[in-house]
Amino acid sequence: MESPFKPDILKGRVALVTGGSSGIGFEIARQLGLHGAKVAISGRRQDVLDSAVGSLKSDGITAMGLQGDVRSAAACEGWVATIASAWGGPLDVLVNCAAGNFLATAEELTVNGFKTVMEIDAVGTFTMSRAAFPALRRSSAAGGPAIVNISATLQYGATWWQAHASAAKAAVDSLTRSLALEWGEFGVRVNGVAPGPIGGTAGMAKLAPGAREVVGASIPLRSEMGRTWDIAMAVLFLASPAAAFVSGDTLVVDGANWMWRPQL
Ligand code: HXC
Repeated sequence: MESPFKPDILKGRVALVTGGSSGIGFEIARQLGLHGAKVAISGRRQDVLDSAVGSLKSDGITAMGLQGDVRSAAACEGWVATIASAWGGPLDVLVNCAAGNFLATAEELTVNGFKTVMEIDAVGTFTMSRAAFPALRRSSAAGGPAIVNISATLQYGATWWQAHASAAKAAVDSLTRSLALEWGEFGVRVNGVAPGPIGGTAGMAKLAPGAREVVGASIPLRSEMGRTWDIAMAVLFLASPAAAFVSGDTLVVDGANWMWRPQL
């Protein structure tokens, strides 16, 4: 898909995308890179990370892989330090995309299962943002440094077998507003993107295996699932100077899906 944005809108920026080695995170990283940013991606699996970095490089993008887990503050702090020593200077864009999920009924979900998803999605977003804040503050990017938190629409109402992920993503949306409020005076913008069902992702493969057409048919726009590209375009806008006065908002990118109900 061709981008509607100028290819240099993020020229010279340094970006970090957690969970950037596959799915939505990878396409976000790729599009940030194709629009001029140097891109670091984090992920837990070294082989997947290596392959993703190779793919970004083959697109002509300056990229590095950072192995580790957003549940570790030391890992997050280490990534920021590694980026600074490799590419010098501040961080301009942070995309918190790392997430974990599975389907489980509330009665079968263990306390540790609930905590695990909270720790990856919600605590991980805070841990990474906190670790990156000093480097983000030092950014002199036009339009200001930007954090973009990837959440979901699961939590707007309630979603079957998603008590853990819904709680976690609601916390992410809340954090987006709190950090936007407190970090505005430092020029750091904090926004979110809430994807609906997106085809070809681990999330959909796990949560709705084989249901691509059924899920797609319920989506008002296009009657099909979104693309990772759709999410990446929203992130590009929020990371770019076009969103210089936008902070504390979460942009829903779901083809008008979450509010849809079947006609009776
Ligand atoms: C029930 C499960 C489970 C499952 C794990 N657990 N998988 N419970 N059903 N399928 C429980 C375990 O039993 C354990 O609890 C606890 O969760 C921790 O499991 P671990 O395997 O030790 O954790 P870990 O290795 O850290 O794995 C984390 C993970 C994993 C979340 C379980 O699947 C993961 O990280 N996946 C990442 C990729 C992913 O799913 N991305 C999609 C995100 S989609 P006990 O009590 O037994 O110790 C998304 C939005 C979706 O976020 C929006 C869709 C519209």
